[in-house]
Amino acid sequence: MIFQLHLLWKSNKFAATFQFFSNINFLISMLPKDIVLKACIFDLDGVIVDTAKYHYIAWRRLANELGFDFDETFNERLKGVSRMDSLNLILDEGGITLQENEKVEWASKKNDWYREFILQMKEDEALDGVIPFLRELQQDRIKIGLGSASKNAVPILERLKIKHFFEVIIDGTKTTKGKPDPQVFQLGAQGLGVLPSECVVFEDAAKGIDAALAGGFWAVGVGDVRHLPHAHVVIPGFADLTWKQLKSQEI
Ligand code: BG6
Ligand code: MG
Repeated sequence: MIFQLHLLWKSNKFAATFQFFSNINFLISMLPKDIVLKACIFDLDGVIVDTAKYHYIAWRRLANELGFDFDETFNERLKGVSRMDSLNLILDEGGITLQENEKVEWASKKNDWYREFILQMKEDEALDGVIPFLRELQQDRIKIGLGSASKNAVPILERLKIKHFFEVIIDGTKTTKGKPDPQVFQLGAQGLGVLPSECVVFEDAAKGIDAALAGGFWAVGVGDVRHLPHAHVVIPGFADLTWKQLKSQEI
């Protein structure tokens, strides 16, 4: 089983990375000789919990108050993007120019609207299968970290009563560079004491997958494969998925 895992992960990495690099010898030299997976780092929004719907409502409210609207296709571009970068993308979309202080005010309003939702979240809002998956990792002694752009990550984990699973929490308060920069996952791996090649990242955003790949992590996309073409593997979610299955790629 372990042997199969090594070969499959290797061949998948090869296939995915081949799309980006034409120098095949360079690629082969980068592949790890042996892989022992020691840790998992989870993105939060859209992976552990569907906060994306609350972000969407709050950002649309902001756009509407500024006199325009945007749809779900545009919203996809905001996933994994920091609050201020999201605001800049939205303002560009609406053709609106604001002063820096006005941007800070609008971002703060949006966050207040967003927090009205998250502070009412219930324990059962963790996405299907997430908690059993975290439990299985813990039983298997696989280290667990969080790698999120959100500055609201800790209150969300607390609302869901799952903060105790995470040995390391890297969120938007601890990073200086947003995804697709790999910093958030690199800090996570450092905190967990593992190498990127020993660590699987779970991400629902294309920018998050690119961040994981840029850092040399194994990138598992969560969601629709059409939005996550660079991921090594894409899963629809954690419902009915076990770590054992994922390791052996029996999915
Ligand atoms: C990411 C979300 O996880 O966090 C983005 O995918 C969001 O949509 C970003 O903008 C920042 O979140 P917050 O909670 O700090 O505004
Ligand atoms: Mg996300």
